[in-house]
Amino acid sequence: MKSLLFVPADSERKLAKAESCGADAMVIDLEDAVLPARKPLAREMLGAYAAAYTGKSELWVRVNDLASGELLKDLAAVVPMQPVGIVLPKISGPEDLDIVGYYLDMAEAANNVPAGQTKILAVCTETASAVLRMGELVQRHRPRLTGMLWGGEDLSTALGAGDPRYPDGRWRSMYEYARNQCLLACHSLGIEAIDTVYVDFRNPDGCRDNSLAARYDGFVGKVAIHPDQVPIINAAFTPSDDEIAHARKVIAAFAQGAGAVSLDGKMLDVPHLKSAQQMLRSAGLTQED
Ligand code: COA
Ligand code: MG
Repeated sequence: MKSLLFVPADSERKLAKAESCGADAMVIDLEDAVLPARKPLAREMLGAYAAAYTGKSELWVRVNDLASGELLKDLAAVVPMQPVGIVLPKISGPEDLDIVGYYLDMAEAANNVPAGQTKILAVCTETASAVLRMGELVQRHRPRLTGMLWGGEDLSTALGAGDPRYPDGRWRSMYEYARNQCLLACHSLGIEAIDTVYVDFRNPDGCRDNSLAARYDGFVGKVAIHPDQVPIINAAFTPSDDEIAHARKVIAAFAQGAGAVSLDGKMLDVPHLKSAQQMLRSAGLTQED
């Protein structure tokens, strides 16, 4: 998934707008974009919305975290709607995924939803414990877990720290570390690595540069918080014509059968070939296209 647009579940206008935004996924939010007093209303609005939904974006729901006291109510409301999955925030370690997995088993059985159908995207850097214990998370593959995303704002709050970014917008070292941990864990597990939100939603150039940097680092998609960010993110996570042309040149350079070749004065070996093949695959192309 390239773009995941977050939409507060208690906003009729945003729900109405969201399905025409072209996001690969809509993440309807029951967590921090909804004030505690409005959570029951938000669940009701989400139910009505999901029942009438005919859009093309995958429907996901960000539920409240395990410690919130809201999660069971969320799951009871959400599982019968059969969204593609839930976004699970503020995990503190792998056991949270197991517990929520059991809850989902039960909710699916109670609602005649095929067992294991509800996927999980975990937010894996919002507590100190989750960042510290990332190594445990990768010890076992969990079939529901199809991706993870990272976030810096909640981690900064958890640490009692200040702004997680330097004044020029770069992440401070703790958040770079958490981001890298998320990236490595996702690739170890073979699941999707999703980059965090770019909060300055009136700055399209910044969003593009930030999204391109995430793709170069190995993320496959990014969270959007505003409709204007969706086309920017979709474009940034799609290889450009120049990149595709270069990838074809690299592949052609290996056609003679040598393991190391030269192209435009630079040495290329097998990792370059594999990257070029990966680039074509991510653009939905084959070597023959
Ligand atoms: N999803 C769907 N539609 C959205 C949207 C979103 N995330 N954000 C804005 N829109 C809609 C607005 O409703 C408006 O449409 P309308 O005129 O038909 O009502 C249009 O896009 C333009 O919105 P704009 O006026 O530019 O923004 P805003 O000031 O209304 O909202 C935010 C700004 C940041 C509050 C809003 O984008 C938002 O709520 N984002 C999601 C926040 C969230 O989910 N955070 C948690 C995850 S990190
Ligand atoms: Mg948060």
